[in-house]
Amino acid sequence: MKQLIIVANTPSENTASLADAVLQGAQSPEIEDVSSRLLKPLEATADDVLSADGIIIGSTENFGAMAGLIKDFFERIYYPCLEEKQGLPYALYIRAGLDGTGTTTGIGKIITGLRWKPVTETLLLDGSFKPDFSSQCKELGMLMAAGLDNNIY
Ligand SMILES: Cc1cc2nc3c(=O)[nH]c(=O)nc-3n(C[C@H](O)[C@H](O)[C@H](O)COP(=O)(O)O)c2cc1C
Repeated sequence: MKQLIIVANTPSENTASLADAVLQGAQSPEIEDVSSRLLKPLEATADDVLSADGIIIGSTENFGAMAGLIKDFFERIYYPCLEEKQGLPYALYIRAGLDGTGTTTGIGKIITGLRWKPVTETLLLDGSFKPDFSSQCKELGMLMAAGLDNNIY
């Protein structure tokens, strides 16, 4: 069974619904051989990443940068995972009230260092909250899980 982890900070009802939608997509009935877990950034450890076959990161943009909890997650897992997890398939979604550029750039640099492999473009959910954001997150979860299920990555 492949392991997919979703590490997302969820400071609001909206962002919690986005993380739930990603998990729901990843757990779609047609996905057969992928076990998906949603982890809060503070709970997620280097061991979780080391045992993962794919990872989805969800961050809000705060003060023009990634959420502090997501930065803390990367700081804890970076060196323990650097050698072993090169090529790890990942997807990223960002919820930003206005912009999202700082988070895209900041996480992009870290992931370039980790040499993880993108499965799709970064999903940027900016501006006022729209119900469509949840559908996009669900699709993202499904895309990642389906790719793992079918050994595409
Ligand atoms: C302390 C703080 C700083 C924020 N800074 C930014 C920012 O620099 N750029 C931005 O686009 N949104 C910023 N936001 C908005 C958050 O990204 C947004 O509130 C969060 O993604 C939750 O989305 P929601 O309002 O739909 O629940 C900030 C929010 C907080 C609480």
